[in-house]
This record gives sequence, C-alpha cells and structure tokens, in this order.
Amino acid sequence: MAEVILVDSKEAAGELVADHIAGLVTANPEAVLGVATGSTPLPVYEALGARADAGLDFSRVSAYALDEYVGLPVEHPESYRSVITKEFQERVGANPALVHVPDGSLDGIETAGERYEALLASSGGVDLQLLGLGTTGHIGFNEPGSSFGSLTRVKTLTEQTRLDNARFFDSLDEVPIHCVTQGLGTILRARHLVLLAFGEGKAEALAASVEGAVSSSMPGSAIQLHPHVTVLVDEAAASGLKNLDYYRWATAHKPQWQGI
Ligand code: F6R
Repeated sequence: MAEVILVDSKEAAGELVADHIAGLVTANPEAVLGVATGSTPLPVYEALGARADAGLDFSRVSAYALDEYVGLPVEHPESYRSVITKEFQERVGANPALVHVPDGSLDGIETAGERYEALLASSGGVDLQLLGLGTTGHIGFNEPGSSFGSLTRVKTLTEQTRLDNARFFDSLDEVPIHCVTQGLGTILRARHLVLLAFGEGKAEALAASVEGAVSSSMPGSAIQLHPHVTVLVDEAAASGLKNLDYYRWATAHKPQWQGI
C-alpha cells in the first residue's frame, strides 16, 4: 500500500520531494533519478533548482525520462528532451551526458525501446522515480490496457491524452499520436516511486489507482504492486479517496524522522 501524504499546495509537495532528493544526492552524488514531464513535477524541479543554487551538486547525478513523443523533432520546445533540458537539467546544473530521454526519432524507432532498456540496465537502476498521473490513469504514457510486465516500447496515445496535452501545442493536430514510454514493468523496477497529483481533474484516476482494483485497465494501480510508493496529493486530487480521513490523520501524525 502506498503512503498517501496530503499537502496544502503543489509547492509544498515540491519542497518535500526536493528535500528528500537532496538527501539522496548528498548521500550518493551519483544517484539515479527518474524524471517525468508535464505540469505535475514542475514544483519539484523549481525546488531542486533552489537547492542547486544553494550549492547542492547535481553534476554526477544521472536522470532518465519516462517517455518521449514519436516523430517530434528534439529541437521542438514540447519534445520531452527539450522539456527535461529546460525544466530539470538546466535548473539543477546536471551533466547533459547523464540526462537520458527515449529516442523518439522515426529513424530507428523499431529499436528505441530496447536501446532505452539497455541504457537503464547499465545505470544500476533508478533510485527514485517521479510520476505524474494522466486523467486516463496512465503513468508514463502507459494507457489503459498496458501490461504490468511491459518494458519501454512505442505506444499509441489515447484521444483523451492528446486532448489533455493539446494545451502545450498550438492545436490538437500537432499533438503526436505515438510515444516511446517506459513500460509499467520498467517503472516498477525503480527503488522508490513518488507519485504526485494535483487538482480535481486527477481525483478519479488517483482514487482508482490508490484504492481501486489492481488492473491493467487502470495503469496507475500498478503502484499497488510496489514495496515503496509515496503519493503526494492536494485536497482536490485526494477528494475521491475512500480512506481520506485516515490519510489526513496519518499525515498530521507523521513522524518527523520518517521522510518520504
Ligand atoms: C510525463 C508522463 C505523464 C504525465 C501525465 C500527467 O512524462 O509520463 O504520465 O505525468 O500525463 O501530466 P500533467 O502533469 O501535465 O498533468
């Protein structure tokens, strides 16, 4: 069962997670982080940037992104390579050679998944994986129906996900239809999963992922199979949880030493 922590704001979640990551990086300057894109992890990257400005050294940290659009040039501002460069790498001063994003270029797309899996295997494993949650219940871009054993591969985005992500593009037509995404099996290999969800739009998928049936129809429910999961949610995203009172109680009485 995941630990569910209620936060007052996404900024508060960003601070909590950044504190934890700062501890990881201090203990192991070569820590391996799993990074996500989209709006959800931005407060974490902002808070990490502040810690880097204050002297935390990310130069030996490796980072692995969850996913990439297929066929979008890497120079496109919405390619996940561009987003991770701008929002994470440049903010914290990570070494570009150690920041990895799946290769979504059409040339060689057939082997993009296995190449990324090989790279991940050579990393020694992800210490902490940041996750957002799609309104369809996807983590990474594992849309409903994704196998729990799946590895990095090309997936087709749902129309709902394309609509959700159209806000980053000039029009819906520009949103790619395919992506390369770590599989649920890949994600479950990370040593610690940190799932963040903010806003009412995530409430249904969040409740189904945390408390619903473990089912490939709700990819986020894969987190229930992992031994170390932390879910940080604001009140709006938490509003569909059956055991909300308990999570509030547990958050209010969380031992200081425990961390996330
Ligand atoms: C991003 C990713 C997706 C997003 C999800 C939520 O790398 O893999 O699972 O985390 O689509 O997106 P936002 O945060 O924009 O609501």
